[in-house]
Amino acid sequence: MTGYEKYTPFVPQPIENRTWPDKTITKAPTWVSVDLRDGNQALIDPMSMDEKLAMFHLLVDEIGVKEVEIGFPSASDTDYEICRELIEGGHIPEDVTIQVLVQARPHLIRRTFEAIRGAKNVIFHFYNSTSTLQREVVFHTDVEGVKKIATDAADLIYEMAQDVDPEMNLRFEYSPESFMGTEMDVAAEICAAVLDHLHADEEHKVILNLPTTVENCLPNQFADELEYFLRRLPGRERAVISLHAHNDRGTGVATTEMGLLAGAERVEACLFGNGERTGNVDLITLAMNMYVQGVDPELDFSNMERIISLYERATKMQVPARQPYAGDLVFTAFSGSHQDAINKGFQYMEDQDGEQWMVPYLPINPEDLGRSYEPVRINSQSGKGGAAFIMHHKFGFDMPKAMHAEFGAVVQEESDREGVEIKPETLYRLFEDTYLKVDGPYRLIRNKLNANVENGVARSHFYGKLRHKDTVFEVEGDGNGPIDAFFNAIHEERMNRFTFIDYKEHAISQGSDSQAVAYVQLRMQDGRDVFGVGIDHNISMASIKAVICAINRGRQIEEAAEKAG
Ligand code: KIV
Ligand code: ZN
Repeated sequence: MTGYEKYTPFVPQPIENRTWPDKTITKAPTWVSVDLRDGNQALIDPMSMDEKLAMFHLLVDEIGVKEVEIGFPSASDTDYEICRELIEGGHIPEDVTIQVLVQARPHLIRRTFEAIRGAKNVIFHFYNSTSTLQREVVFHTDVEGVKKIATDAADLIYEMAQDVDPEMNLRFEYSPESFMGTEMDVAAEICAAVLDHLHADEEHKVILNLPTTVENCLPNQFADELEYFLRRLPGRERAVISLHAHNDRGTGVATTEMGLLAGAERVEACLFGNGERTGNVDLITLAMNMYVQGVDPELDFSNMERIISLYERATKMQVPARQPYAGDLVFTAFSGSHQDAINKGFQYMEDQDGEQWMVPYLPINPEDLGRSYEPVRINSQSGKGGAAFIMHHKFGFDMPKAMHAEFGAVVQEESDREGVEIKPETLYRLFEDTYLKVDGPYRLIRNKLNANVENGVARSHFYGKLRHKDTVFEVEGDGNGPIDAFFNAIHEERMNRFTFIDYKEHAISQGSDSQAVAYVQLRMQDGRDVFGVGIDHNISMASIKAVICAINRGRQIEEAAEKAG
């Protein structure tokens, strides 16, 4: 067998009247970070002591995790040292519990008890593999054999726990490793035996961590397994049910979420899904998925940039651009229709004065993650709305709607030519080249503009000296506003071949300087519309500059058409 035939399909656990599909997640589970253990052991370049300490403080001080698996102290000297440094260096807040992992082997258990001396809150986490595959391939033993490994370890741990400092709040955790590949009746039998041997009761609950060590089934099939397991577990109330999903099928998040529906109350996870192979389930995605369903995740990810930067420094891993809630590209929209809808969503919320988040294509307000909103990004797939949106929100130019298409076409041409994303700086340069740096054929050399009110009627007088190629000419006219006065002034001139259509103005601050920007829409003789933009400290001058800009642009278009024949 060379291809897919060599793989054995998962055999689902039969279950009747499953209840988990009708449940919803209404409350955060107990979160456990395994970044310093499962995450660290999977790094090409494991974290140094300083990096581990920085990661620990990030997790507990900033994110708010209350249980942290800090390592495998019996398996490595550096894990032993970090454990001692955390305890002796006073790094562990009163309300935080450290968790240490150990294989179910006597000498390693003894060494682990040494590692935790002096700690206040400890979870002693031991495991052995119980799956059919591992029983056959690795341990060459049967169910009784793996059960005995677990219960012997439980006996030793319970016995040694009697001698620890009574001040220590010591709890136990057992993982039937590869739970997902274990027959559920067997898993329940072994876990029940472990609970018995650890003298678990409702006052002294033992954590049963049920790992998806290697994902092997659909998330709903895992949830079926879990619901079935819990039905079969004698004395379920003696246990805290914990999940520990890896992500081999890319469904670690779904497996965990469905596992919570099926009765789990605790989750072990890593930041950004770091961990063995495809990683552990991502703590951030799980927590923020709850957040956007209106459930308090009881974790703080409001400074995502800092979390990313510390994580990348410590692990030398990179957060992918499309990582949920965190990637560089997750709050951008390239498609024009998405960009339009996002703009409308923001406008709608503003108009409604509403607090409920109602922005299409943005499932979360980026500001909740400490991200400044980088609204839209422009590539050849983007429409006119995106460019206008960036010009408005990043540079303050609120173009009239009718102008969006004209500027959008300029941007589209550049994007097609360059074949790359148009950055905001490039967008601004295009705007500047198209509207603000238009230099001819008409140039205003000198001008005087008077505006006053006579008998309650606004009057403007415009005088200007203009240059057209080598010809200099003067114009003068009156009107009921500056634009009217200007058009009356150029009445006799060749430049008067455009019909005024519309006008818009607003204030704009560039640096500390506040100016006015005016947009003018003129209609050319062939019926096409052309826009001009003017900026000046004086609003009337801004509008006249905008008219001249539009006339010049119109003339350039006409001249190009004349040349093209
Ligand atoms: O993935 C796993 O099964 C583990 C156990 C040691 C809990 O990491
Ligand atoms: Zn694991």
